[in-house]
Amino acid sequence: MILELHSPLDMHLHLRDGDMLKLVAPLSSASFAGAVVMPNLVPPVADAEAVQAYRGRIMDACGGDVFKPYMTAFFRSYTEKELERLRDLVFGIKLYPAGATTNSEGGVKAMKDAEATMAMMQEMGIPLLVHGETHGFVMDREAEFLDIYRNLAEQFPRLTICMEHITTAAAVRLLDEFENLAATVTLQHLLITLDDVAGGMLRPHLFCKPIAKRPEDREALLKAALSGHPRLMFGSDSAPHPVHAKEACGCAAGVFTAPIALPRLAALFEEHDALDRLQGFVSGHACALYGLTPPAKTVRLERREMLVPDAYEGYGQKVVPMEAGCVIPWSLMQSGFTKMT
Ligand code: DOR
Ligand code: ZN
Repeated sequence: MILELHSPLDMHLHLRDGDMLKLVAPLSSASFAGAVVMPNLVPPVADAEAVQAYRGRIMDACGGDVFKPYMTAFFRSYTEKELERLRDLVFGIKLYPAGATTNSEGGVKAMKDAEATMAMMQEMGIPLLVHGETHGFVMDREAEFLDIYRNLAEQFPRLTICMEHITTAAAVRLLDEFENLAATVTLQHLLITLDDVAGGMLRPHLFCKPIAKRPEDREALLKAALSGHPRLMFGSDSAPHPVHAKEACGCAAGVFTAPIALPRLAALFEEHDALDRLQGFVSGHACALYGLTPPAKTVRLERREMLVPDAYEGYGQKVVPMEAGCVIPWSLMQSGFTKMT
């Protein structure tokens, strides 16, 4: 059995830079026609020059693969002139609360300070992508942020606000309250709960931010994804860290899923008799919502077992994928393209 996906998109991806970029970019461009690339490098990607230069390095790292990086800029207070320039270069602007996650120290300290830039983004039609966590108790951080989303959605009704990597049933409910809210969800948050991370032996390769939550949260996310919620999109949040930074006494947050994402999603959707909903989840919803026309690229999945490698290595880097050493009933066959659009 073969499943064809048309121009699959990863709507939230960390590609890093340097040698790690060279190792991981081809693993995304083998599966996807494009991806929304996060700006949390050191220093962050926060002006037009940095966006253009990073885009160039990504294209180089993808070799000949058809792959469109949808670039983002790191949220800060931008002038109107800066935003006008960025508008032509970026897909959206990513807001991190200061210190909420990896390389977010330069993020927003008070939402009030962000309003002027958001108002201009609304006028210019630049989407706002948000890491929605407070600095509260780790299990409550997303729930506490929902009021901030609610305020933003009311204050900026014409701004498209994407709640990135949602992890709770409450966030799914909020999605239905406001037309201008959208959301991405990761593979790991459709599959695991906190029990998988820390309920038995501690599993560092499943540790990410936001942390996986309760069974009822996972069920609500899965139900929304399988039912084809039109404003819920796949965003892997694949976030590679070198193995020594994960298997350490201070474990870096991030789950590396890029190379298994599509086969594992196919297995999950098949298990729930919802394979017909996968195209929308991995491409259609995002294209409709944002008016995207990704490069034409057909990605074929085959119902043949894939043994997930213990690690991906190259350029002096080593990174461990989610489900390393496990067998997934689907695998990537090949990808081809008809034409760039
Ligand atoms: O787990 C995470 N890792 N969450 C994020 O928000 C950032 C990411 C990273 O860049 O490593
Ligand atoms: Zn992320």
